[in-house]
Amino acid sequence: MPRIPLEDNVTDVIGKAQRGRQLSDAELAVQASLPLADVLAVKSGEIREHALRAIARPLKLGGKALIALARKQWYPEQPVFPRGFAMFNTPFDDLTVNSYLVWDVKTRHAAAFDTGTNCDGILATVQAEKLTLRSIFITHTHDDHIADLPRLAAETKAAIWSSELEPVNLPGAQVFKENAHFHLGELAIKTLFTWGHSPGMTTYYTTGLAWPLAIVGDSLFASSMGGSPSHFADQYRHNREKIFKLPPDTVLACGHGPLTTLRQERLHNPFYTH
Ligand SMILES: [Fe+2]
Repeated sequence: MPRIPLEDNVTDVIGKAQRGRQLSDAELAVQASLPLADVLAVKSGEIREHALRAIARPLKLGGKALIALARKQWYPEQPVFPRGFAMFNTPFDDLTVNSYLVWDVKTRHAAAFDTGTNCDGILATVQAEKLTLRSIFITHTHDDHIADLPRLAAETKAAIWSSELEPVNLPGAQVFKENAHFHLGELAIKTLFTWGHSPGMTTYYTTGLAWPLAIVGDSLFASSMGGSPSHFADQYRHNREKIFKLPPDTVLACGHGPLTTLRQERLHNPFYTH
């Protein structure tokens, strides 16, 4: 798979933090003891280290991680699963969205997580690996993540599962509560409610593969997190209390951008290194 760009650049991260903390440019300048021009310069992508360091504090961002992001110095090392895991990256306007497939190598039972905008890759892998798709788990019901759900469901007859908190009723979907367990041969999948970006955003914590795996949807991205104009604080807290409590070698499979690991995010995600 070609290298997938990070979902958010430094400008996106600053904007998300500013909206989340409800700080205007002028307020941010005051709190950072900076001229407004410095704030506007770093927001346009200029690398001014002293200014990035100064705004990091009121935005509750890690200064070092923010500077590394501005310098484009960091990209997560990509974890490898020898088997039982596949990632799909499909176009959505000029961006892309991820979907995933996991399976138990003995029973060949599989589960998909979201569909992206095109489920051809999922269907081809199901066929090539001789899998039976048992379930389609939805991280959240934003269009890009479920765009090809009707086709995937029709072609595989798999059960559709979504959070009881998600307001959109998907035709044919069943709902689960938090900490529900699903089993796929020797794999276990546990639901964690990491809402904020959407009301029913779910992280699926999966064990039994080569690495513990958290399919986080848009809760968290490599060096960023899911945005929400109204529920930033909830998203921030649920990530910290639920995702960042998982084992450090947990692989994070995000709704956009590359794979990462909890250990790498602890060092490089500006939202969680301050
Ligand atoms: Fe998304």
